Amino acid sequence: MKRKMFLSFLAALPVIKVFGSIKIPFLSGACRTQKDQEGPFYKDGAPKKSVIETDGKRLTIEGRILSAKDCSSPVANAVVDVWHCDKNGDYDNEGYKCRGTVLADSKGNYSFTTIYPPGYGSRPRHIHFKVRAKGFPELTSQIYFKGDPRINNDFARNAESGRVLDLTDKKEFLAARFDIYI
Ligand SMILES: [Fe+2]
Repeated sequence: MKRKMFLSFLAALPVIKVFGSIKIPFLSGACRTQKDQEGPFYKDGAPKKSVIETDGKRLTIEGRILSAKDCSSPVANAVVDVWHCDKNGDYDNEGYKCRGTVLADSKGNYSFTTIYPPGYGSRPRHIHFKVRAKGFPELTSQIYFKGDPRINNDFARNAESGRVLDLTDKKEFLAARFDIYI
């Protein structure tokens, strides 16, 4: 494609917002949430719940599940399978402490309450999740938190900015928004 034609092609594309204030031309999949390591502690069959853990500093996360095909269409009735360590940095491999499946609604909205998990070993604070929705590939990934001094460790260093969350301190609890593109 000649340069002039290519520029005309770009100008004709709708512009979308990705990762906060960055605007880029729409290209299918450009906003897709990156995969991350599953790690050794995933356990299938976590119960459905919206309050996953209460023993620790309270954290609420809410957002939407959206299609990566157009970066805007809501994905109805997705399941977000969440797991993380407890306040001591331990995973429950016997039961389902700090594990739960969260149901998104028909408009793609989801929310859950849990604790602000500590880091452990060299790993930064993180929450693991899988998203499953009919007609979409399963996503396994992790979220991290801005300001964590260990954020540049291991696979966390490859996290795109959309997976490193801004926390709002609401005094009684911490809150973050996270939209997931599958
Ligand atoms: Fe982990």
